Amino acid sequence: MIPLKEAIEAKHKLAERMPFNVRMFRGQLKKLEYGLYLRQQLSVFEAIESIALPHPDLSRVRKVKQDMAEISTVYNWEILPSTLEYVEYILSLSIEDLMPHVYLNYLAIMYGGQMMKKVVPSSGNMYEFDNMQEALLSIRSIQKDEWAVEANKGLDYNIKVFEELELVTQNSKEYGMA
Ligand code: HEM
Repeated sequence: MIPLKEAIEAKHKLAERMPFNVRMFRGQLKKLEYGLYLRQQLSVFEAIESIALPHPDLSRVRKVKQDMAEISTVYNWEILPSTLEYVEYILSLSIEDLMPHVYLNYLAIMYGGQMMKKVVPSSGNMYEFDNMQEALLSIRSIQKDEWAVEANKGLDYNIKVFEELELVTQNSKEYGMA
């Protein structure tokens, strides 16, 4: 069986190269645009964390909310239809099938996190983990190559969200602000 990391490599590349992600990586996102991304992350984390996490220090909900509040305490970012689709899917999963989505969405933040933290327009609480090694190990120790199918599904959902983020932010004057 192909190792999990290799099995997700092709779609990981696609996700990495999505224009919204490229702009984030280059430090080009405006505050409101980054806030919109955080709002999507919040919904995904809330859905996952309403079911189960292998380690309490993985929990991201409070941290994402802190980052959003730094940008604005009054702005009401929308939850995009593509995010709602992913959330609905997550909420339909058994704990066993949820774990590949934990692997995908939490390791995405851990890896690359130190790099992103420096370039995003907030202090980047989302990328900070207490007991990072222990939290990482809680995922690594249960990870299986059989997770590839679900992890790739999760990447498809993430790619759709990045597509919509780009579409919405490029077609709205509002997101050009601040
Ligand atoms: C700008 C966007 C991104 C960049 C630059 C990036 C970069 C990286 C890097 C450098 C690694 C470590 C690779 C290694 O160990 O050699 C990694 C791992 C990983 N990334 Fe990303 N990534 C991005 C987006 C994403 C997204 C959107 C997801 C999924 C939602 C994701 C999920 C993962 C996962 C699950 C791993 C761990 C793979 C493993 O070791 O099993 N990444 N990423």
